[in-house]
This record gives sequence, C-alpha cells and structure tokens, in this order.
Amino acid sequence: MTVVDQIKDRLDIVDVVSAYVPLRKSGRTYKGLCPFHAEKTPSFVVFPETGTWHCFGACGTGGDIFTFIMRIEKVDFGEALRILAEKAGVLLEERRPQEKARQDLLDRLRGANAAAAAFFHQLLLHSPQAEFVRRYLAGRHLSQETIQSFELGYAPNDWEALSRHLTAQGYTVPELLEAGLIIAREEGGHYDRFRNRLMIPIRDLRGQVIGFGARALDDTPPKYLNSPQTPIFDKGAVLFGLDRAAKTIRARSEAIIVEGYMDVMMAHQHGVTNVVAAMGTSLTEEQLRALARLASRLVLALDADAAGDQATLRGLNLARQSIGRRRVPTLRPDGTVAEEERLAVDLRILTLPAGMDPDELIRQDIARWNELVAHAQPLVEYMMAYILRDVDLRDPLQKAAAVRQMKPILLELQDDIERYHYIQRLARRLMLDEHVVEREVVGAGAARPKARPSRGRRPGAPAPEAGPTDEQRPQPAGRRELALEELCLLYLLRYPRTIHPLSFAFAEAGVPFLAPEDFQRPENRYIFEQIQRAAEEGQLTEPALLAGQLPAPLAGYLQELLERSEIPLEGLDEDGILQDLSRSAFSLKGRGIRQQLNSLRFLLEEAEQSGDGEQAGHFARLIQQYSVTLGAIDQALYRLSLRGKRDVV
Ligand code: UTP
Ligand code: MN
Repeated sequence: MTVVDQIKDRLDIVDVVSAYVPLRKSGRTYKGLCPFHAEKTPSFVVFPETGTWHCFGACGTGGDIFTFIMRIEKVDFGEALRILAEKAGVLLEERRPQEKARQDLLDRLRGANAAAAAFFHQLLLHSPQAEFVRRYLAGRHLSQETIQSFELGYAPNDWEALSRHLTAQGYTVPELLEAGLIIAREEGGHYDRFRNRLMIPIRDLRGQVIGFGARALDDTPPKYLNSPQTPIFDKGAVLFGLDRAAKTIRARSEAIIVEGYMDVMMAHQHGVTNVVAAMGTSLTEEQLRALARLASRLVLALDADAAGDQATLRGLNLARQSIGRRRVPTLRPDGTVAEEERLAVDLRILTLPAGMDPDELIRQDIARWNELVAHAQPLVEYMMAYILRDVDLRDPLQKAAAVRQMKPILLELQDDIERYHYIQRLARRLMLDEHVVEREVVGAGAARPKARPSRGRRPGAPAPEAGPTDEQRPQPAGRRELALEELCLLYLLRYPRTIHPLSFAFAEAGVPFLAPEDFQRPENRYIFEQIQRAAEEGQLTEPALLAGQLPAPLAGYLQELLERSEIPLEGLDEDGILQDLSRSAFSLKGRGIRQQLNSLRFLLEEAEQSGDGEQAGHFARLIQQYSVTLGAIDQALYRLSLRGKRDVV
C-alpha cells in the first residue's frame, strides 16, 4: 500500500474538510459553503463514500483530500502529503538510527497493554465489585473457558486504578498516554480511559495485546469504546480474533468475517474457529489483504440491514477491485506471454436472517449457521441480485441502467466462461437478448489493424459493430494491463507534443479538456497537473526532467510507471499515436463525467425531496449540461472508431 493510499485509508474526508468548512449532513453527503468562491447557498458537496468533494456552484472544481489541502492551504502536493501524513499518523520515511529506539518504544507499549489486560482479567475473575459483570457474562452465555482464553476483564469504576497499578510496575505516564490507556487532562494530570467496562483485549497476529474493545456495562455511551490509534494499534489493519483464527483459516482456506466482538467469541466458543471481526468500521483493504494471504475463500457475514445497504455494496465493490489481485502469466493466442490480473479470492456474502447476529444464530441454531456459510453467495451474484432487485422490467431505461451497473463487475471477471454465465443470467433476468447484453458489457472493438484477438471475445460471438467506444472495450493486447488514466499519462509523457493536438481535438468536439480531477489516483492527478503546467508554459515535459521536479514519493511512482509501460507503439505514426491517445483521453473524460452525473442525479433527487426548487433547478441544468458533454464524447469516440476502421480497409 502506498503512502498515499495509507493516508486516504486512515483519514475521513469529512473530518479533514470540516476543519476548514462547516459541513451539514445531507443524506449520504455533506454540504457546505464552497471555500473557494463566495456563495450564499451551499453547493460544496463532500462524498464520504468515495472520499471526494465537488463544488457544483460557480467554481465547479473537485477532488480528494489531497487536492482539497493543496487548494485551501495553497501548498503543493509534497506539502499536502506531509500535512496529511502527520494527521493520519503515517510515517513518510523511517530513519534507521531511530529504528531501534522505536522498536523499544513499541515493546513498552505492548507491555503496558498486556499488563493492563492481566490487571483487568484478575479483577473480573476475583473482585467483589465485578460480581455483576460475571453475572452479565453468564447471561450472555459466555463460558468460563471463553472468558479465560480471551482474557476478558473488568475496568473498575475508578479514575486512576489502572494508572496507579501500571506506574507501580514501572510504566511512565507518557508511555501510558501513548499506549492509549490514559487520557491527559487539559488542566494537567490524567485519568484512566476505560472505566466500568467489560474489557476485551485485542491482539496482533502474534497474540500480543495491542488494544482493547471496552463494552459499556451501564448506559454510558458509546456501547463500545475502543483503544485509539496508537503506534501499536491500527484499527484499520487489525482483525479481532485473527491471532486464534489464523490456523483454522489457513487449514480450511476459508475465513468468516463478522461484525462484532461478541460474535467472534461466541463462534469460537462453539468451535467455529475461523471467525474474525473488523472493529466497528467497514472492512479495509488492508484487512482483506491480510485474510487473502491466508485463505482463498472469504465469507462476509452481513446483517440483513447491511446487506441491503448501498454504502456496503460500494465499499465491497471497491475492495473487490483492489484486493486479492495477483498477476498470472498467460499465453496469448499469438504465442506471446502476458500477465493478467486475476481475482485471487472468492469473496462471498452471507446474509443473516433479519434481526439476528452471528452471536445468537450460532448459539441457537448452529446447523442453520453452517448451512448459511456453505451457501454464501459469490459477490457477483449478490451484487446482481441487489442491482436487479428493484428494476421495473417495463422500463427500458431501468434495464439499461442495470446493465451499465453490472458492466464493471462483469468485466472484472477474467474468466470468459464465468463472465458469459453471468451475462446470460443477467440477460434472462432482464428479458433481453443475451447478445445485446454481451455487446454492451464486453463491448465490440472497432478493431485497429494491429489488434490481436483479445480474450474479451469468443469465436462465435456476434461480429463487432462500430459504435461509441468505451474505456472497457478490449484494447489492443499489451495495453489492457494499464489502467486508463495511467495509459493517458504515459502517452503524454512519451509524446509530450501530442497534448496540443489533443486539446484541439477536445475543443473541436466541444468537450472541456482533461482536468486533473478526471484522474482518480492522486499521484496521476498531480503528474497530469505538472504536464499541463509545463505545456502551458511552453515547455515540453521530458519524463526525466519531470521526475526531478516531483516530491520524492511521486518521483518513485513515476519511475515505476515508466518502467511498467510497454506501450507497443512501434509502427504507429504520429497520427496513430494521437488517435490512440484521443481514444483513451475521451474515455477517461467520459468516465469522469459519468461519475459526476451519478452524484448529480443523487443530489437532484435529494433537493427535490427536500423541496428545494432552486437547488433542484441548478442540479437539473448541470445534469443537462453534463449529458450534452457526454453525448459529445460518445460522438468523438464513435468518429475515432470509424477512423480506426478505415485504416483496416
Ligand atoms: P454491535 O452493536 O452489533 O455489538 O456492534 P455486538 O458486538 O453485537 O455486541 P453486543 O452483542 O451488543 O454486546 C458490532 C461491532 O461494532 C463495533 C464493535 O466492534 C462491535 O463489536 N462497535 C459498536 C464499536 O466499535 N463502537 C460502538 O459504539 C458500537
Ligand atoms: Mn450482538
């Protein structure tokens, strides 16, 4: 995971932006007055699910946390990276001489947590004040053995019982602060973080205590108070129970992911020992990767609410795209070897019966639980069911929308047979001709002269027709591995002069030129900005020159990008290069516009529901405008595909 990804992972865009702009929650989004231009009604929108922001008012800009900090603090990317890394507690670089001292500190912090766990555990087992907790645990059907093996504990209702105990053992106040066990008072002094709570130690893979989940025993919120982010406790990386579940997970090559501490403990108590939980947040990529290293099948147990939740769906979709990918060498029909990305894990969804969590289900009906695990739905199937659920089969627009939503999911499947299987099912469910669906999903390339057969098409599949191309369309072999945005960048880096005819092509098509925000990866966005600036200043960027100007992490990224690229351009003249570049650039622009349209449709709906006619009108006009642009892009792509065709003849 790159530093940039780590930072994005750890920071919530709403928190970051809120520090500068007062935001008001509005549906799934947050709204405020745009800090980049003067306005009276809020049109500055933050999308927590995608980690992006956009101003739908006069300035019309947008981006992610990096762009936001760059603009609001008026700093460059390197500085924004530094600011955010600090906020996120991500180390940009670790220097060697300090390494040892740091290891020692980490050991001390783990020691303090372990000592705290032992202290709480003894109190739970023996203290008279913990009698009510022992009764509570019995009421929750946790056995004595479970209590001992998880080393459950009781944090007494006392402001300094723990700190007294641990300082007597030689731990210093700064150490306890850093371990997340005590909290400093503003007026000086400190107090114990956990009081009158059931203490559940959280362990790393080696079984060392690194933090706690602490359940309320009265009605003091929150229900669970977790250790804060500390040098040893990274909530987004740890999975509760993994220390004891790892062995079974590996042996069965299957992991079950549940939501709560109680669920994990009850599962283990009943011999279901491949169960872990993410703590209170949705699963992170890092957690999924950790599991994917141990098992090939991951079963996510979702309660009936979460399973129908759009946010969950999107989160999973993102995770599915980014984790568990491995590159496998494959033989191309022309005898060359290429690497393809394959999903390395079989991610499945187990939907729990309404109103039940694994804790109850396992306790009451383990046979049913086992059956649900065995029949967990593959993610693709689950998403298909979800997307198709409310489609009105009489409405062609809804059917088209459903196919479009399924498209990226189906394209992820690298196995032709599997993909075809789902295309068939999708077609049947929507009562559409499967060839039509297939064409929409797989696309049918207006093949360029050099295009070799691509794995996207099967013999016997309908003959390709020229039509608006799309980013997902099979591209000439050798380039598929590169994501669209990287492909655009590489062309521009290799052939800096093409930026001028390219921007002309955009102008001619009536499409606003590529903007940094069309690139989703912050690294790519920044590199594009540099290319653009150089072009504006009349300099043509040489990759080497550019690398020298970039902040360190980005220079490395650029280098990697350049090395990875095997754009097979031999034999292509300048016109051919420009055509290829235009195709990618228009597709990229189209992708950006489509995303914006999605957001706008949502905003419009929201504005209509809240009866804000003025806002609704504004959004409706924007939708109109963006749709026109999208049409122009499709036109441009269509013309490009025709040109590609004529070359063949
Ligand atoms: P639940 O509310 O489902 O709790 O939260 P639970 O684990 O089933 O616990 P019981 O059965 O009510 O005692 C699921 C998980 O979400 C996290 C915890 O990890 C919890 O186990 N959570 C929940 C928090 O971190 N903080 C909270 O305030 C609530
Ligand atoms: Mn529960």
